[in-house]
Amino acid sequence: MLPNVLQRSAADHIPVLADEARRLLAVQPGETVVDATFGAGGHARLLAADLAGRGKLVAIDRDPSVKPLFDRFRAQAGVDVRFLRGDFALVLTQLAANDVRADAILLDLGISSMQVDQAERGFSYATDAPLDMRMDPASEPSAREIVNTWDERELVTIFRRYGEERYARQIARAIVRRREEKPFARTGELVDTIKAAIPTPARFGDGHPAKRVFQALRIAVNDELDSLEAALPAALEMLRPGGRLAVISFHSLEDRIVKRFLAERAKGCTCPPELPVCVCGKEPELRLLTRKPVRPSAAEVDENPRSASARLRAAVKVD
Ligand SMILES: C[S@@+](CC[C@H](N)C(=O)[O-])C[C@H]1O[C@@H](n2cnc3c(N)ncnc32)[C@H](O)[C@@H]1O
Repeated sequence: MLPNVLQRSAADHIPVLADEARRLLAVQPGETVVDATFGAGGHARLLAADLAGRGKLVAIDRDPSVKPLFDRFRAQAGVDVRFLRGDFALVLTQLAANDVRADAILLDLGISSMQVDQAERGFSYATDAPLDMRMDPASEPSAREIVNTWDERELVTIFRRYGEERYARQIARAIVRRREEKPFARTGELVDTIKAAIPTPARFGDGHPAKRVFQALRIAVNDELDSLEAALPAALEMLRPGGRLAVISFHSLEDRIVKRFLAERAKGCTCPPELPVCVCGKEPELRLLTRKPVRPSAAEVDENPRSASARLRAAVKVD
């Protein structure tokens, strides 16, 4: 049960795998916690409650529109809190370089329901809006720039790599043809082009026909996978011995990066098996807290369908 001051309001985003993340992060009073993806502050509110009035919470987000939510959170948090706006890869790297240390770090990847609901930001294929998709509106490129200027081959690559889109080639070709007549400005134009480019039966199977291309564009616009690759070692460096890292991902591309990173850093010696003794001297830096990813319960998916694809992995930094 949350203390009264930290009660949720109806407008709050429902944090995904919240109990599980909280249990794995096991925040204790007096500790320093980093929520690297503050969003609407759902997880931050719970982690701040676990600090029980003593400790520090550093919140990071690249989206300036979360700042008013952070200000509201600050007024209620009951602990020392700080907001750092920027890409978590850069912010965590800078914090680590400045010897800031943490006992628990959470990354809850992707976009928030709040961002999806801000129709004008163009994250959703369900509403016609300007083609944008930037988490940080000051960053480059926007989805509009990618769709109108990247060459056909680059479009095929991102649709395949980030969207696992079967009809990547056909869609990229249709986009290039369409933009020669009139550049894309809105999500609706892109959705119509995608629908027209794929075979009729494919328009009705496996979710919305634009789902995979929108995912691919969002990942490319926000350089999400490179950010994650850079953030994980920085987070590990920031952790004190005994500190916990938890990452919630929403698709297999992210989960693969997290899984591989945690497994590599949890492994000790990397010498070839034919060597009789270890010459690399490598010691494990992490101990896995989750052998398999933690998935949401059926009840959570019922309550919050967005959680369906979530996977949580966690590890503790060894002494
Ligand atoms: C899934 S939401 C987090 C929701 C949050 N845990 C909650 O309970 O309200 C992800 C948030 O992280 C931010 N984000 C995603 N990638 C980021 C990055 N590379 N650097 C900083 N913030 C990022 C997004 O802007 C978004 O607000």
